[in-house]
Amino acid sequence: MFSLGIPLVAFVALLALSLYKYIIYPSFISPLAKVPNAHWSSSFSPIWILWVRYSRRENATLHQVHSKLGPVIRVGPSEISVNDVGSLRSVYGGGMEKGQWYAIFDNYGVPCMFSAAHSRPHSARKRMISNVYSKSYIHNSPAFAQQSEIILYDRLLPLIKSSISEGVDVLDMFFATTMDGITAYLFGTKNASNFLQNEEYRKHWLSLYYTRKRYTYFSQELPRLTRFLKKLHIYLIPTWVDDANKELEAWCKERCDATEDFLGASAKDSELANEPVVLGALVNGIEKEKSLKGTQSVLAEETLKYPELSIASEMIDHLAAGHETSGITLTFVSWHLSQDAALQKALRSELLSLPQTMLLSSNKRGIPNSKDLDTLPLLHAVIMETLRFSAAIPGNQPRMTPYPSCTVGEYEIPGGIRIGAQAHSVHRNPEIYPDPEKWDYKRWLDGPENKMSEEQKKERDRWFWAFSSGGRMCVGSNFAMHEMKLVIAAIYTNFTTHIVDDEGIEQADGYTSGPTSNKLVLRFEEVKD
Ligand code: HEM
Ligand SMILES: *[C@@H]1O[C@H](CO)[C@@H](O)[C@H](O)[C@H]1NC(C)=O
Ligand SMILES: *[C@@H]1O[C@H](CO)[C@@H](O)[C@H](O)[C@H]1NC(C)=O
Ligand SMILES: *[C@@H]1O[C@H](CO)[C@@H](O)[C@H](O)[C@H]1NC(C)=O
Repeated sequence: MFSLGIPLVAFVALLALSLYKYIIYPSFISPLAKVPNAHWSSSFSPIWILWVRYSRRENATLHQVHSKLGPVIRVGPSEISVNDVGSLRSVYGGGMEKGQWYAIFDNYGVPCMFSAAHSRPHSARKRMISNVYSKSYIHNSPAFAQQSEIILYDRLLPLIKSSISEGVDVLDMFFATTMDGITAYLFGTKNASNFLQNEEYRKHWLSLYYTRKRYTYFSQELPRLTRFLKKLHIYLIPTWVDDANKELEAWCKERCDATEDFLGASAKDSELANEPVVLGALVNGIEKEKSLKGTQSVLAEETLKYPELSIASEMIDHLAAGHETSGITLTFVSWHLSQDAALQKALRSELLSLPQTMLLSSNKRGIPNSKDLDTLPLLHAVIMETLRFSAAIPGNQPRMTPYPSCTVGEYEIPGGIRIGAQAHSVHRNPEIYPDPEKWDYKRWLDGPENKMSEEQKKERDRWFWAFSSGGRMCVGSNFAMHEMKLVIAAIYTNFTTHIVDDEGIEQADGYTSGPTSNKLVLRFEEVKD
């Protein structure tokens, strides 16, 4: 009897304990139990949200649940999703840290600013480069101006001119433009990409990039399982994804090394466009950090130990983040403009009011004064509305709640909980953006054509979240805005665009995402006056 009884009692006790720990506590007793459940199983099982993410329905699903259950919902036993400005302030403005989810953005096995989990090493890295990404720096940088001039007048506009009346995949063309733009700012034009003119290599590079991008699910959502199975030689991520990554890393490292040699060379290059603005700032920042006396740098065990790899890790992150997001946005801007000839015409007359126009027929080929360009209301409005409507990072940006606990909305949230918002939904609050499913650039105009009150305009700006917010918001937002304005200005001063094939233009569900079909075919026509 006894020999049978003890295991039985132990078994029952274990069962009861498990029931308590895995079902009763999380569902009824944990402070999280007060938060509405996205799905009936959310309080005790992550399977629902894992499945939703796996089948690429996160955006649509969470958007729908937020509309029904309010701005704070529980999507899993240890995960919350939020969707209002108050919560954004608590999560992003309050400096909650990033978690394991961002570890896939470590390159060469070392962290970069974006992937840094903790705020101290993050700030130390950010100090080195934030100045060269500030609006005033970019607006006044002779290197940026020269680089843009080369890319627009020597590459992009001639390419468009040579393809007049043929269909052009503008997603591909804009990825090339933004890659050439960001790599020129990182490395100087001499060591930047020339994707606009080198179609074959561009297609190869982009296909490697696309490979790497498609296989993030398992490492991000199930990191422990992925690592465990890998030990057993079961690969959830095909090994050729690693090969693609290695090739991209080698490509970037070669440019970093060449640029560092250039900086170290005694004979100076006087060509403004060849200045490696960002890489130069990073090298100086690392030198400064090394010379910190007294206090040991927080980067001593990372960046300072592997400066070359850390520089390359930072650069590949910027060129990835920098080309894809802006390329997607430009594609959607051109798609909206292509549907409205009158809007193109109004935009063109605004562009022709610039003191320094981008007319191809004028022989000056200069780029407009930054301030003049920045204050064009229609140009600004079409880009802002596109960033609202199709934020290039529409997906969830997870953070971790601090220990022991914090307050979000009306809830007390324990530490160590994943919490995040998605721009797709933040941008669709009908009280802030009336008729949110309509692309309506007029919401961003400040003249009499916009009926919003001053208070409503303030709210409109407060809820705009395409670049995230707080300490980890996009460091490249000023670069992106200025670059996109120049590209749109250069094109629409001299050309009109027309849709040839926009099948699959709906934005895909994902973290960073463009058209589902991964293309948009437009036809360009020269403006004849
Ligand atoms: C339309 C263009 C762009 C959009 C919509 C965009 C959006 C964003 C968003 C939403 C984040 C925060 C992501 C998160 O925390 O999960 C971010 C971060 C970042 N972005 Fe951008 N971005 C754009 C262009 C650029 C460009 C041109 C660069 C070039 C350097 C860049 C570099 C970065 C970096 C380095 C971070 C990490 C910042 C940090 O951790 O401190 N982005 N971006
Ligand atoms: C970098 O630029 C230098 C100077 O123009 C050039 O000699 C070198 O081949 C370039 N390297 C790469 C990888 O672009
Ligand atoms: C550029 O566009 C303007 C009108 O915006 C037109 O007057 C001019 O002829 C165009 N130039 C070329 C080379 O297409
Ligand atoms: C989000 O979901 C909606 C509804 O299914 C869809 O129309 C839209 O294209 C999706 N957008 C993104 C960014 O996933």
